[in-house]
Amino acid sequence: MAKRILVAYDTIHGSTAEIAEFVGKELIEEGNVVEVHRVTEVTDVNSYQAVVVGSPVKIENWTEDAVDFLSRHKQALSQRPIAMFFTCLATLKRTPEDGLGRVMTHYVSPLLEQFPDLKPVSIGVFTGVLDYNKYTEEGAAGIRRFMSERGAPVEGRHDCRDWQAIRVWSKEVSTRLETSKGEWVVVATGQR
Ligand SMILES: Cc1cc2nc3c(=O)[nH]c(=O)nc-3n(C[C@H](O)[C@H](O)[C@H](O)COP(=O)(O)O)c2cc1C
Repeated sequence: MAKRILVAYDTIHGSTAEIAEFVGKELIEEGNVVEVHRVTEVTDVNSYQAVVVGSPVKIENWTEDAVDFLSRHKQALSQRPIAMFFTCLATLKRTPEDGLGRVMTHYVSPLLEQFPDLKPVSIGVFTGVLDYNKYTEEGAAGIRRFMSERGAPVEGRHDCRDWQAIRVWSKEVSTRLETSKGEWVVVATGQR
């Protein structure tokens, strides 16, 4: 039977919103009934049978509103299958000691430790959009430093989203939300 799924997201500059819409469309193609909403618009998750929630990484954490969403709904979220995704840039030009390892130790694990009752069936890690035109002067300086350490671009706009990988993840998530498998996996995508 069709599952009613919420895709909740936060975004700073829009790229995670587009990923959320895309994941929503893929889940619909898999036969689910899907609503996509920004986390701040969601007041209740009890009417959904499963939830996908995603946020960009902002200074090593989800956005405040996305963390607040997990806090507000943690009880309901712990009672239904959930999947999570992270949009970030740490996967760009990764080296063995960086990339996914950094994402796990700096972003994924601390967030899961903060919410021990949440057991996502899958965690997607998606490389996002690097766009120096959107950053404040201070933000651009920090991001430029982070990028130059990786040999990644230090100016301009670079859309590093890997839509094919996000599609594959979405289809897998549809199955996992259906079977409610309790073990989570991390999928890193879009290394450039
Ligand atoms: C203020 C700011 C801080 C960021 N901090 C990080 C970070 O700590 N680690 C990381 O991998 N990416 C970081 N990013 C990159 C974003 O996660 C990435 O660009 C993402 O695609 C933004 O998603 P959005 O377009 O939905 O806002 C940061 C971006 C901004 C604007």
